[in-house]
Amino acid sequence: MNDQATYRGITLDGDSALALLDWQLEMGCDVPMLDAPVDRFDLPTRVAPEAPVPQAPPPPADDDLAGRVALAQALADGAGTLAALAEAQQGFDGIELKKGARNFCFADGNPKARVLILGEAPGDEEDRQGRPFVGRAGQMLDRMFAAIGLSRDGVDAERAFYVTNVLTWRPPGNRDPEPDEIAVSLPFLRRHVDLVAPDLIVLMGNIACQAAIEKRGILRLRGQWVQAFGRPALPMTHPSYLLRNPAAKREAWADLLSLQARLESLSV
Ligand code: URA
Repeated sequence: MNDQATYRGITLDGDSALALLDWQLEMGCDVPMLDAPVDRFDLPTRVAPEAPVPQAPPPPADDDLAGRVALAQALADGAGTLAALAEAQQGFDGIELKKGARNFCFADGNPKARVLILGEAPGDEEDRQGRPFVGRAGQMLDRMFAAIGLSRDGVDAERAFYVTNVLTWRPPGNRDPEPDEIAVSLPFLRRHVDLVAPDLIVLMGNIACQAAIEKRGILRLRGQWVQAFGRPALPMTHPSYLLRNPAAKREAWADLLSLQARLESLSV
């Protein structure tokens, strides 16, 4: 033991340090105490017993899906504002994806907007920035909605949109969300939609349709108005699909015009 250590300007090697400890033991210093002496005559004569610290209930086990969903529901029900909901959802540990993601990705855009766009899950760029739809698909989304006069930066609620995803944490390798990941996210999503209270919802792609209306088959569903979360909703093909299949933009344009017409009809 010949390593040296310096403490408060004094350098000791290992053997000297051990010898000093032995000497202290010899002198009766056999219990480690505080750095500074305590004046015990100055202490209150009776110390009140410490109040028990309330313990949070243990989180449900990974295989207890019903327990995880119930906890998500209780947290979502307790959130009275979007900020409280975001905090509750970010703090929720019942979703394994949280451990592998870089950032929590809640929403973007104007929460007073009449249109809420629901996507699938954050991708790589969204995970980096903690904002939905900011990668290539997001730029496509912005161009699509700009064509009918809506933007996420719109201050005027009439000309703005709000955007969120079914999942708030990125699935590894951009794989599809698992059913249990959707199940534990749904209580938060329902509350999210209720708090934003949009006039219309756009269901972007299969995963949004699966979560909101329990149906897949976006090429069949697109363009047909349905009810989701108690509001009119329009399934549309996802911007990533349009990037891969530019010929489908024609139908997407028809869907955007349908959305615009519905917004106008609700305004009168
Ligand atoms: N695709 C989505 O569905 N959501 C995003 O946020 C990004 C890409």
